[in-house]
Order: sequence, then C-alpha cells, then structure tokens
Amino acid sequence: MAIGRPLIRLGETTSTMDVARALANQGATPGTTVLAGHQTQGRGRAGRTWIAPPWSAITLSFITASRRPMESLGLLSLAWGLAVAETVDAFTGGRSQVKWPNDVLVDGRKIAGILVTNGAVPGTTEYRQVTGIGLNRANLPGDLPPAGTSLAIETGGAPAEGDVLSELLVRLNLVWSQFESGTHDVIVDRIQRRLAYRGEQVHVRDGDRGHAGVVRGIDPRGALLMEDAAGVTRAIVAGELTRGPRRER
Ligand code: BTN
Repeated sequence: MAIGRPLIRLGETTSTMDVARALANQGATPGTTVLAGHQTQGRGRAGRTWIAPPWSAITLSFITASRRPMESLGLLSLAWGLAVAETVDAFTGGRSQVKWPNDVLVDGRKIAGILVTNGAVPGTTEYRQVTGIGLNRANLPGDLPPAGTSLAIETGGAPAEGDVLSELLVRLNLVWSQFESGTHDVIVDRIQRRLAYRGEQVHVRDGDRGHAGVVRGIDPRGALLMEDAAGVTRAIVAGELTRGPRRER
C-alpha cells in the first residue's frame, strides 16, 4: 500500500472525508487518497467546521488498513502529525511542533489539523481508517483565525501545491511503514522531541470530563501523560487540549 496511490483529484466537494469513507465502504484499496481544491462542508475534530478559501490549503483524506492492534491507533494519529510537522519544516526550515492529539503548530500557531476516523467495512470484520489532513498553504492572515498560520505566512510566499503534496506523501508513507513494521519507539521518540506544551499547564476536555495538569510526554500508545496537582501522572487517551489552567464555562 502507498498513500497517494491512487490519487483522486476533485475540484470541489462537500468534504474529502465523505468521499474517502464512501470509497472505503465500497472496497477501495488502502492508500486511496482524495484531494480537493475546495470543500464546502469541511469538518474538524470535536464537531468543529474546517473552512479554507478555494485552492488555499492542502485538503485531503486517505484510506488505511492497519494490521496493528486497535489500541495503537492513538499513536498512528500522532504519527500523522509528525509527518505533517516534518513536511512543514521542509518548507520553513524551522521546527514545528505536534500538539496532542495531532495538530501542527509553528511558534504556537496552528498550521495544520488532522482528523482520524476508524470504521468497520459494512458486511465484513475489517476496519478502515480514513484520515483527513488540512494543511494551510496559501492562506493569508485574513483567511485564518488569530491563532492560525500558513506556509505562505511563514515563508513569505506560497509554495506550489504539487511541491507540498509530494513532500507530504513521502513523509506520510515513511511514518506509515515505520508504524506498520512496529518501530513505535522511534516514532514516539520523534514525537516527544516535538511535543507542544511539555512542562506547561494544560487542560484536556473529553466529553463531560476534564483533566488539568502539566504535560510530561506521551506513552507508547500515543496517550498524553499529564501530571496533576497531587503529583500523580495519568495517561489521557482522548480529548481536546487547551493551554493553561481550566477555564470555567
Ligand atoms: C481539526 O483541526 O480539527 C482537524 C481538521 C481536519 C481538516 C481536514 S481537511 C481534509 C479533510 N476533510 C475534512 O472535512 N476535514 C479534513
């Protein structure tokens, strides 16, 4: 399997997640990737929308079928963030960070978001992951939220879509082969070195539950290690992370 083979290019669609999931359910080969110039109903994690002007961001979704146990899929989700961070660095020459569970930040500002879904293929016992990546390429400051950035902003000019896409596919395929071959310690180590907010106070919300504490790292399954005020370190498997102490709602 190679991510990007085949590559289906669409001008406009609702969301590449919808197209890739439909293809996965119809038995499309793992690696199948859907790239859109514009999404009219782009989705983010936790029910958020994902909005970008036409042809500004790299927006794609791809299908994988992992042979690894289900509990290691949390690490896979972070590994995609690592591949995107390495892609960003290839253009900025800097050191981008992975914000758990899988955003990519440049100097604390979000340049890419990742959405991972795992679902059974109808009528089979097989699972397919559909992973969506939105990487801000040509977006200008007015197109982005205040805490957002793009390759154009970071480098002073938008790199060509084809160049970003090629780099991204190489990096995604590299982390995929490392993940599937089981060299998870290498992946974990590379993520630890780029993990945002290490040693800082954060809050993680998972549905009705909230966890406050200091980020200490990730564990081999990709769970976030957080130390609470009592000095107890817990592994948090899912949630949305906010910097700083808990804000009352
Ligand atoms: C997030 O930051 O919450 C995740 C954003 C994921 C956006 C990408 S763009 C391509 C794919 N299609 C979507 O509708 N969402 C993902």
